[in-house]
Amino acid sequence: VNVRCGTYDDLAGEYYDATLHPTAANFRKASALVLDEWLDDLDRLPQGAIVEVGAGRSLLCEAFEERGLPLGDILLTDASEAMLAASQRWQQRGARLMVADASDLPVADGSVALLVSILGDPYNSESFWEEVERALRPAGTCLFTTPSHHWSETFRDLVHEPAECAEFVVREERIRVPSYIFPHDVQQRLIERGRLRVIQVTDVPLAALGEGRVSDKLSMPLERDEPVVTGYLARRT
Ligand SMILES: C[S@@+](CC[C@H](N)C(=O)[O-])C[C@H]1O[C@@H](n2cnc3c(N)ncnc32)[C@H](O)[C@@H]1O
Repeated sequence: VNVRCGTYDDLAGEYYDATLHPTAANFRKASALVLDEWLDDLDRLPQGAIVEVGAGRSLLCEAFEERGLPLGDILLTDASEAMLAASQRWQQRGARLMVADASDLPVADGSVALLVSILGDPYNSESFWEEVERALRPAGTCLFTTPSHHWSETFRDLVHEPAECAEFVVREERIRVPSYIFPHDVQQRLIERGRLRVIQVTDVPLAALGEGRVSDKLSMPLERDEPVVTGYLARRT
């Protein structure tokens, strides 16, 4: 099978097909659990602009709809127009959609109350976290999830895949896209370079995925109590 480096445009047509890509579906479900917990914990939703970065099929809009919250303050962004197309239904309900790089968001300095990035490992770089710091207003909140470092280290080592890539089999090809996943302390330092502070770190264990199908890529290297996804809640000082 041919292996090549690609982008999410190459994956968009089938990324949300849970039969073809069960690992992506499992990561998404684990991320939804963290997002739900955090949204339940917020005393009240931040008033003002809300931005989801790398939104794909927006989990934030799903969570808002389940809570009966309006989508009118939400801007969904993604570098891939094809991935963002999976959020068209949310546009009809009031969210705005814009193609934008995670390190170059179409928002004014200090204007964002809540910034959400679900499975943000493809753009988990210094320039992204500088952009989060620029975009958030003082006391603004950032919710970020990533596949766990414990999983990526164990799995990618086991199958001899490069540490900084995620691999997807699409038709006859193995397509690699960037994926930067760090241990807790390294991730925290990356987030806290400037005026952002990590408030909470949450590991979601494999067992939390419940009874549904768990992909071999997760069940092979992980015990049930080991983390599949890690969430970071940060605040701008
Ligand atoms: C792992 S997917 C997660 C998608 C979505 N958040 C979800 O949970 O279903 C990563 C997303 O980040 C987007 N992405 C990748 N690189 C990006 C970049 N540099 N800037 C913005 N979005 C990017 C991809 O197009 C893709 O939609």
